[in-house]
Amino acid sequence: MASCCRGPSPGRRSLPLLLLLLRVSLVRQASAATTSRLSGYFGTKSRYEEVNQHLLRDPLSLGPPEPGHLLPSAACVPLQLRALIRHGTRFPTEKQIRKLGQLHRLLRSQERACPAAQQLARWDMWYQPEMDGRLAPKGRLDMEQLAQRLVARFPGLLSSQRRFAFASSSKHRCVESSAAFRRGLQLALHPQPSPSDIVHEKTEIDDKLMRFFDHCEKFVTSVEENDTAMYQVDAFKQGPEMKRIQEKIAATLCIPVRDLNADLIQVAFFTCSFELAIKNVNSPWCSLFNEDDAQVLEYLNDLKQYWKRGYGYDINSRSSCILFQDIFKHFDRAIAESKSSMPISSPVILQFGHAETLQPLLALMGFFKDEEPLTADNYKKQMHRKFRSGHIVPYASNLLFVLYHCDQAKTPEEEYQVQIMLNEKLLPFLHSEETVSLYTDLKNHYKDILQNCNFKEECELSKTNNTSTDEL
Ligand SMILES: *[C@@H]1O[C@H](CO)[C@@H](O)[C@H](O)[C@H]1NC(C)=O
Ligand SMILES: *[C@@H]1O[C@H](CO)[C@@H](O)[C@H](O)[C@H]1NC(C)=O
Ligand SMILES: *[C@@H]1O[C@H](CO)[C@@H](O)[C@H](O)[C@H]1NC(C)=O
Repeated sequence: MASCCRGPSPGRRSLPLLLLLLRVSLVRQASAATTSRLSGYFGTKSRYEEVNQHLLRDPLSLGPPEPGHLLPSAACVPLQLRALIRHGTRFPTEKQIRKLGQLHRLLRSQERACPAAQQLARWDMWYQPEMDGRLAPKGRLDMEQLAQRLVARFPGLLSSQRRFAFASSSKHRCVESSAAFRRGLQLALHPQPSPSDIVHEKTEIDDKLMRFFDHCEKFVTSVEENDTAMYQVDAFKQGPEMKRIQEKIAATLCIPVRDLNADLIQVAFFTCSFELAIKNVNSPWCSLFNEDDAQVLEYLNDLKQYWKRGYGYDINSRSSCILFQDIFKHFDRAIAESKSSMPISSPVILQFGHAETLQPLLALMGFFKDEEPLTADNYKKQMHRKFRSGHIVPYASNLLFVLYHCDQAKTPEEEYQVQIMLNEKLLPFLHSEETVSLYTDLKNHYKDILQNCNFKEECELSKTNNTSTDEL
């Protein structure tokens, strides 16, 4: 148990001090590597290590060989790398911290006979509202180490002579992630401090590409701010699977069932995930849940992702076509430059965003699509679903598009090829099931999105109705 974060007056500790203590505790505990039996079900709050377990042993290793491989550099040289990176491990949001505070107060409000309730009442509520979704110290490590692994994987491309283009969502955790990533690049490329420090290069704030969802009026109106759009999620919260967990936990904690609801159950589960991701401890909050419960709560998380960011509504993914097209625009430019033997103007483009940036884009491209939608009443049927956000967008998740120039190509089409990696593993293309594609084949497969998806038109609310007469 972390002794660092216990103390008589949690309210009086400053945030910087807490963060410092946390960093110390991380280093101390890392070797103990507590792995929870629940950690595979934390959805978007999963540690990156869940999808790359070898990193628990060595955070800088590239892992075991996998089926399919990067194109051999003898034949194909990477021309351009586009990396879309979710921020690293973060603190809970203010809203989550408030709900946790509410649950914690409920447990402290009276002496209860249940040992689990006593243990949780004694738990130190160390989260403070100011932490509001910020990058945790572990999140900085996530980014520094990811940068170092990318340098090892693409040494020719990520070299000290190259120009790096950084862009980020305006959110603090993303800007901080890009800074930590740069420190990682610096460590890998210039172990000696030098005037050309990458650390000092500027990050461009680009919400138009990294938070396209905020700029899409149709998405905001018909999904985000629409009280009925999440009806499947709301129905599942009231459904038999969640009811069962609610009753069980009420009994475990000696509190009336009516004092609990799905949101409080979920915040208890989130706390278990945050304590593991941020502090690397197996929190007493985890002991409220068994593996069956965790699967139900994972489904609840996935349902929300599905309806808000995934296949649930077309506008979720269509709103990302602005980002998708930007990737191809830069590839086209790199190819034009390569054909005229010019230097590639942006060989490395690193963009820092959110799970909400990556998930719609992956849906636009058709990845992780199940035959049937995820709904409130097909939990059992969806046990083996593809759409598992913990496997797709954990903290620090990253989607890489790599454009190669290949020598000795037999046809002009073979000269330019592409690979995609999700979380540092090659992602087979849907049109071929291969891990490498000719650039022309890829463009052809996605020609409808490339040609017919216009962000402005897709995101416009149908105005036909409101050319109001009362204005005249
Ligand atoms: C809100 O969502 C529901 C369910 O998808 C839909 O029927 C309704 O049209 C949406 N409302 C708006 C304002 O888009
Ligand atoms: C206009 O609004 C009405 C009701 O608000 C709706 O029934 C109709 O389908 C809308 N028409 C168009 C063209 O969107
Ligand atoms: C349509 O016009 C009315 C009255 O001008 C306004 O209250 C309403 O918000 C408008 N609806 C949309 C979808 O723009």
